[in-house]
This record gives sequence, C-alpha cells and structure tokens, in this order.
Amino acid sequence: MMAMLFSVSEVMMGLRNVLKHGDKALLRVSREVTNFDVRLHSLLDDLKETNDYNEGMGLAAPQVGILRRAVVVTDISGVEDVTIELVNPEIISLSEETEEVAEGCLSVPDVWALVRRAKYVKVKAQDRDGKPFELDVTDNFLARAIQHEIDHLNGQLFTKLAGRYLSEQEIEDVMFERERELAKRRKAAKATAGSRRVRSW
Ligand code: NI
Repeated sequence: MMAMLFSVSEVMMGLRNVLKHGDKALLRVSREVTNFDVRLHSLLDDLKETNDYNEGMGLAAPQVGILRRAVVVTDISGVEDVTIELVNPEIISLSEETEEVAEGCLSVPDVWALVRRAKYVKVKAQDRDGKPFELDVTDNFLARAIQHEIDHLNGQLFTKLAGRYLSEQEIEDVMFERERELAKRRKAAKATAGSRRVRSW
C-alpha cells in the first residue's frame, strides 16, 4: 500500500505548473543549456509529462519557469504521437512557403489566432546527452510547433505574431477540422480507428 502511494506521488511529481500570459518569465530570453546532467533529464521528463497531460503540441522550459533553452515538441505525423526533445535548438532554414494556421498556446488558454509561419523547417539541436543532430522537418504541424517553441526560448508569445484572433465559433470549427485532418493522417499512417484529442501549443 505504501509502495503504491509512493509511486502515485512520484508520477505526480513530474507535472509542473504552466505559467500563464502576464508572467514576466514568459517574456525573457532563455540561456543556453551547458550541463547535460540529471537535472536536465528530469526537466525534459517533466516537460514531456506536462505537455502530454495538457494535450500540448509542445512545451518550452520557460513555460514552467526554467529559463533554459530546452523544449519538447509532439510529432503527430505517425500512428503514435512521438515526443522530440530539442536542447539548444536553432533554426537552420525556413521554407519560403508559408501558411496561416490557427494556433494556440498552453500559456495563453482559450485564445486562438491565425499565425503565418514557414511550412517546413530545418533545425539543429542537441539531445539530452549533448549529442548534436539535425532535423529536416516536412510535417507542417511539427514545423509549426518547433517555430512556436523556439519563440518561447526568445521570450516571444504567439500573440505577437497573431494575424487575427478567432471567435469561439471559429475555434470550435478549427477543432472540428483538425480532428478530421488528424483522422485522415492517422488513416494514411495505417492506424486503427478511434477519435484523437486535439493538441494545442
Ligand atoms: Ni506556447
């Protein structure tokens, strides 16, 4: 019984509080990660857990009050959602092709706006052990998530790029459309049937 209680509290420990719009930490520039140690690993674990719990498309360390250049993003292009960890991420190139898509943020709840971003992106980063790698991202959801999270590291919220805010009805429509799009993708990825929750940034 005690062991069980202990494991429950351990699970809970991974969830961190997501700072909300108005908190000045969200407007600060995060510092480079230099120590690839157990503290970083637990930060990344907690970011993933908190992102999943909140059904996010991604979460940046400053959103949980840690001003370090570390983010997680959710790749929803396959059958299973995959979390990608990016430490000290840097955009190498952005596609000339852009698209304006409805976007939200876990730090700005219930607000969605049209944001124009590059459709594809090349990014370099380090993994949790400091090993460098590059990603050539051709999935537009993932490319958007990466741009959004790197903005967080530079103290910029998506509202700064917002073209137009969506009404409640439009948000519902967007959610509906996105569910359909995700269902289509999942079918393309030969996944089994069933509904999938829409994730937000
Ligand atoms: Ni965000």
